Amino acid sequence: MTLPNPRFEESYARIFGHGISMDESADDFFRTFYDRFLEDPDIAVLFAETDLSRQVAMLKKSLFTLVSYYVLGEPTAELDRLAMVHKRLGIAPEAFDVWMQALIDTAQEYDDQFDEATCLAWCWALAPGIAYMRLMLGKRGSAEVSDADPA
Ligand code: HEM
Repeated sequence: MTLPNPRFEESYARIFGHGISMDESADDFFRTFYDRFLEDPDIAVLFAETDLSRQVAMLKKSLFTLVSYYVLGEPTAELDRLAMVHKRLGIAPEAFDVWMQALIDTAQEYDDQFDEATCLAWCWALAPGIAYMRLMLGKRGSAEVSDADPA
């Protein structure tokens, strides 16, 4: 997948290595992300029963789903499925801002060359997918796809 956003691609490579797949070393990044995200008690309560190792594995996969939307310009079945899962969970739209901020703060911590332009590059790559998931929270019907198969 070629990204029209070299600063994001370079930062992503500094953090996760080259290529879209990530090895176990990326788990550390996502654990730090969850520590940050769950600092908000209203959010932490939603994850009280969650197996965070499993959640880390799923999030590793779904970061690719968000970036795919930015690259392809249309939602994949997996993005629709994720949107539906979060709609059913009754997630507040504002929580997506907290999610994105926690991810960007974590990228800043793990990328030693992170600067303002890199920050904007991350926003540019992630914002479409996050906006899509937010928008689908309020939609009736259009995200009603099967979430039985986690692709
Ligand atoms: C665009 C941002 C987000 C992404 C990519 C994402 C990704 C995921 C993924 C992959 C799962 C596992 C569900 C599955 O695959 O079937 C999940 C579950 C979940 N997400 Fe998100 N999420 C996002 C935003 C949020 C936000 C803002 C909240 C608000 C608190 C949230 C709360 C949850 C909860 C409570 C679960 C269920 C955990 C469990 O199964 O115990 N997510 N999310």
